Amino acid sequence: MSEFVKGLEGIVAAQTEMSYIDGEKGVLEYVGIPIGELSAKSTFEETVFLLWNKRLPTRSELDEFTSELRQRYELPAGMEQRVTSLPTNAEPMHVLRTMVSALGMHDAQPNEIELDRARRKCLNVLGHAPTIVAYFDRYRRGLPLIHPDRSLSFAENFLYMLNGEKPTATMARAFDICMILHADHGLNNSTFAARVIISTLSDVYSALTGAVGSLRGPLHGGANEGVMKMLNEIPSVADVESHVMGKLERKDKIMGFGHRVYKAKDPRASDLQGLAEQLAKDTGNEDLYAKSHAIEQIMEREVAAKGIYPNVDFYSATTYHCIGLKLDLFTPMFALSRIGGWSGHIIEQLDGNRLFRPKAEYIGAHNAPYTPIDQR
Ligand code: CMC
Repeated sequence: MSEFVKGLEGIVAAQTEMSYIDGEKGVLEYVGIPIGELSAKSTFEETVFLLWNKRLPTRSELDEFTSELRQRYELPAGMEQRVTSLPTNAEPMHVLRTMVSALGMHDAQPNEIELDRARRKCLNVLGHAPTIVAYFDRYRRGLPLIHPDRSLSFAENFLYMLNGEKPTATMARAFDICMILHADHGLNNSTFAARVIISTLSDVYSALTGAVGSLRGPLHGGANEGVMKMLNEIPSVADVESHVMGKLERKDKIMGFGHRVYKAKDPRASDLQGLAEQLAKDTGNEDLYAKSHAIEQIMEREVAAKGIYPNVDFYSATTYHCIGLKLDLFTPMFALSRIGGWSGHIIEQLDGNRLFRPKAEYIGAHNAPYTPIDQR
């Protein structure tokens, strides 16, 4: 009889060559390359190529991959109309989930899962998703849509479509770094969801739709919005101590802290901290960074002994705010990047598939009587 492990904690349920995590030492590598190297030297496009191919591209391979991605910035015919007929008060994560699903209806052969075909469908979603989010945001604000510009990188183009003007090099690079840092992370919940769905030999759109749904939860990608809400609730740095201590006394979770795998500071949080500090200075949001830093110091004093440290969501909140993103776009940003990682896992799963079908331990009654309805 196999042992029941709640939350599958510590269970190895897949093999991957994409990312390696040492939670005790706070190490994250993509295909063996330390995350800090990639965030300092790579681009999101190159990082996705790395994750999908398990090696860095040559110049011409990168150019070709980038060009294929840029060809997918424009939405298929009919999709723009779908996005602009949604309720304007819909949450962007619900919009993204529904529209990723809808993309399957705009593909003449949505169910193809041969590796090269599946890969092309992943590229479709990776290219289309930023346009979906930017179009929806402008539509709900009553602004004219800004069509994508294929001369721009993934990061530049998204910010351009959102704001109607080309981002500064600093903003575009900051956003690109966020995309690199969020691209993959072992068998996290949404990646597991994608792998579980594709393991039935369903289709890429279904697997990515399920993954978006998983990511929005506050214990997963939704935590970055929770961090920002908490920062907004705290009037000033002087109020941080009482606010955090109050939460800890009530046994409330502090969003952006703790991780199922890391028992040290998440290396992505360290990278984002530097970025958040710089952007906060550049954009006059020093107070936001100061509050975040004060929270981290209190958490270090109070709960570090339990292995609770900042995770990727903690400083990404300040970073996204300084880039000018609205609160409910924070989790969609995580998704735009993670589509790269989910896709790599879908391809890995298809390449050597085994249906996921664990068992449940039955803990109910046996031989129970069937009582007729009028006697219950
Ligand atoms: N604030 C305060 N205490 C915490 C926190 C936190 N954020 N996280 C864990 N703890 C405490 C928890 O109360 C428990 O204490 P005790 O043993 O005294 O009851 C202990 O640490 C173990 O916590 P757990 O919830 O059993 O641990 P887990 O492995 O299930 O939790 C987690 C992982 C991410 C769900 C949890 O840390 C959490 O809810 N964090 C806040 C949400 C968050 O930031 N999520 C983003 C995760 S990283 C990005 C991603 O993967 O999406």
